[in-house]
Amino acid sequence: MPKKDTVTITDNATGKTMECPVLHGVHGVPVVDIQGLYKNLGYFTHDPGFTTTSSCESRITYIDGDEGVLLYRGYPIEQLAEKSSYLEVCYLLLYGELPTPTQWQDFEARIRKHTMVHEDGRHFLRGYRRGAHPMGMLVGLTGAMSTFYHATLDVGNPEHRNRSAMRVIAKMPTLAAFIYKHGVGQPYVYPNNKLSFVENFLNMMFSVPAEEYVPDPVAVKALELMLILHADHEQNASTSTVRLAGSSGANPYACIAGGVATLWGPAHGGANEAVIKMLHAIGDAKEIPKYIARAKDKNDSFRLMGFGHRVYKNFDPRAKLIRKACYELLDKLDASEQPIFEIALQLEKIALEDEYFISRKLYPNVDFYSGIILSALNIPLSMFTVMFAMGRSVGWISQWMEMMGEPNQRIGRPRQIYSGAAKRDYIAIKERD
Ligand code: SDX
Repeated sequence: MPKKDTVTITDNATGKTMECPVLHGVHGVPVVDIQGLYKNLGYFTHDPGFTTTSSCESRITYIDGDEGVLLYRGYPIEQLAEKSSYLEVCYLLLYGELPTPTQWQDFEARIRKHTMVHEDGRHFLRGYRRGAHPMGMLVGLTGAMSTFYHATLDVGNPEHRNRSAMRVIAKMPTLAAFIYKHGVGQPYVYPNNKLSFVENFLNMMFSVPAEEYVPDPVAVKALELMLILHADHEQNASTSTVRLAGSSGANPYACIAGGVATLWGPAHGGANEAVIKMLHAIGDAKEIPKYIARAKDKNDSFRLMGFGHRVYKNFDPRAKLIRKACYELLDKLDASEQPIFEIALQLEKIALEDEYFISRKLYPNVDFYSGIILSALNIPLSMFTVMFAMGRSVGWISQWMEMMGEPNQRIGRPRQIYSGAAKRDYIAIKERD
């Protein structure tokens, strides 16, 4: 249990005071528990965007924004990126510990059992136009998953929750690959459970019946890293959506669909697609100063995509790892002179020397380089955020499982400050001028 002390809040209008408990976590900033504020002092708190509000107690992920630290269940992201696999990280995030050999064997077997999707679910894709954005299809297909599993949707049943988690992790790659195939008009490739998790995804994405396909080990390694780095990230916008949706007792697939929808935004997971569009729009390093000026201009809505973070006020540790993988991958794929990579490096250098970015602690985030790796892996631009969603699905479902497992779990219900019209009476239309 977190260590406890208190802070005193005094209402200067009435002189009334209140002792608020202070909760200390294992790491991080202590929090003031203000649950009794309304009952004792008659106030709500106001914190648009929840930038200084803790919405829950969690044991899954810890971020130190100033120190650039990211831990999954206490393990530093750098160690997991170097030594683990995405599926092992899924086990760790879901259950809190690294699996023993027996647990690993059982877990991997269970995931393999759930890689296929219901045939009727595959037919949903026919309803989408060829040019439909993959994230629009993923929102639809993820939510539709709930219509195939009526028998295991009791969110109060731990085994149903665990089964749903297996299905989400196992089926997201299949849904992503089917969405891609729909877009390019190629036959769907079913999962091949002899392959590893990432090899299986690449095979479903890029193999065609007419030719032999062997996933490139360099691509497998790069994609494994990407998925590990995107797996979870505390209470970001999409995870908070999943938690709030789940707090009403909604089924897990509907909650994950909400997470997918939230991630789509360019200020969140949609940034990896927006970064590449921005780099192509810049087109040439000599145009960079013009875009830097636009990013600084308060009258211009343009922001430097891939820069800044609500929490990291130092380098995003994931960006460091992805930047290194970028170099290695582009060298190995002999694509290091990729123009957009050169522009990205120039942009990063110029921005990090500019007072506007330094003073606001705007560093490259995970999305700045991830698009370059995905481009090098021949993943189409419109699929970038789907890849983010695929990696993050384990974080969403782990956070949902944690919340649903809490004995005192209740529906979330933020308050507001009302600044609309004061109470007034209805006027018949003939009396309105
Ligand atoms: C992700 O929360 C998570 O954990 C998210 C994520 C995850 O793993 O789930 O890490 C994934 O979403 C990463 C972020 C991807 N988004 C982008 O790269 C889009 C570009 N970045 C921004 O839109 C912005 O930086 C945010 C949304 C990420 C953060 O927005 P904030 O919290 O409003 O930024 P801030 O308060 O730190 O801004 C401080 C100042 C402001 O200017 P002033 O009012 O002080 O003059 O910096 C400016 C902002 O206008 N600013 C930028 C900028 N980001 C912030 N100016 C130019 N370009 C930018 N990118």
